[in-house]
Amino acid sequence: MPDDALFAAVMDPANRADPYPLYARLRERPVARQRDGSYVVSTHAAIRTLIFDPRLSSEDLPPFKRPPTGNPIRDWIINPIRSRIATAHRPLIFRDPPDHDTLRAAVMREFTIPRVQGLRPRVVREVDALLDKCHGRDRLCLVEDLSYPLPVSVICELLGVPVTDEPRFQSWATQLATALEPDARGDVESRRRTVAAFDAISDYMRNLIREKRTRPADDMLSGLAAPGPGGAKRMSDFDLISTAILLLVAGHETTVNLITNAMLTLLRHPQELERLRADPERAPRVIEEVLRYEPPVHFRTRKALGAITLAGETIPKGAPVILLFAAANRDPARFETPDRFDPDRPDIEHFGFGGGLHFCVGAPLARLEAEIALVALSRRLVAPRLVRDPPPYRTGASLRGPEQLAIDIGGID
Ligand code: HEM
Repeated sequence: MPDDALFAAVMDPANRADPYPLYARLRERPVARQRDGSYVVSTHAAIRTLIFDPRLSSEDLPPFKRPPTGNPIRDWIINPIRSRIATAHRPLIFRDPPDHDTLRAAVMREFTIPRVQGLRPRVVREVDALLDKCHGRDRLCLVEDLSYPLPVSVICELLGVPVTDEPRFQSWATQLATALEPDARGDVESRRRTVAAFDAISDYMRNLIREKRTRPADDMLSGLAAPGPGGAKRMSDFDLISTAILLLVAGHETTVNLITNAMLTLLRHPQELERLRADPERAPRVIEEVLRYEPPVHFRTRKALGAITLAGETIPKGAPVILLFAAANRDPARFETPDRFDPDRPDIEHFGFGGGLHFCVGAPLARLEAEIALVALSRRLVAPRLVRDPPPYRTGASLRGPEQLAIDIGGID
């Protein structure tokens, strides 16, 4: 395969179960131009350099155009205004400084470590309850039994979104997450569905925020919606809605893959599962190594604001840039035996949560949930065994993880 077609092969679902040989080839040129004019950055050193470079912009989504409806008032007046507002008020993951920093600071004020740590007993109870429901069964379907419902109920509780409404926005959240997949961005039908999902979830959030302003509770949405010092608004209503949507979608679409990838990896390394069962204190190391070895987010895209020269290649102004975190995580120049799963490696400086300005704000929450889930799974499943290896994968190449993970469990304690 030619070098400039390697990223197209990464996007091909046929390579979803094992993209790592493609990543190894991409790393041969740390900044690799692809046929479509994009540049893939795949070594640890190159990503480390670029992640702090202000010439790389996160404002790389295409404009938010709504398709014609046939109703002239809607097509010529209402929808163009709504589209402009939606484009200008993208969530912080798609924004650059200074707006990014203001929005992020507002989120960080609410997403505090004590608030996340305070969820521990609640997460323990939820994991136990989800596993109790599986009593009497021989087989666990990990995604639907635990990996999906756990983060969803936790993010709903944290934000103050009634979990009973979740079935309404589940498909919207999944559709909006496709904004991270380059091929879905170019596909007209997928973009139409994304706009429709955005409109529906925005209406839902607008109503919920109104309610939080009238009857504030001890949750993140109430905090974000409350006035700041001196009664000033912390952020515009449009920014508030897009921030709330981002947190809800991130809570739905990422941790599910961390828990599932972790269990898949442990079942492929039964001695590590056994060691975790014997010593639950190992859970944080196991999770960090999963974030390096099988991360839930494989890459993020950027746009070059100016020409950037790195590793003998010049990325021209305006070019799309792909930061291939999952390839950097297995860079032999940075890690010894990078293709080995080894929670005891002395340093695990991974890009599982990205890095630089956009480093994941949900990292402490994701770590907490995964730790509690893995400890419970390692303790309670009597004789777990994978039913199918590799399992079927979801379509996403960036948000990558199994669609389902069937495990024969030999009973549950
Ligand atoms: C950003 C991964 C869970 C909220 C990021 C980025 C990565 C990432 C790689 C960097 C994006 C970039 O550089 O463009 C993950 C993984 C998770 C996870 C692997 C689970 C295992 C969560 C959760 C939340 C969350 C649970 C919140 C509820 C965010 C937000 C950003 C972000 C708001 C944007 C930060 C910014 O732009 O400054 N995440 N995430 N994430 N994550 Fe997470």
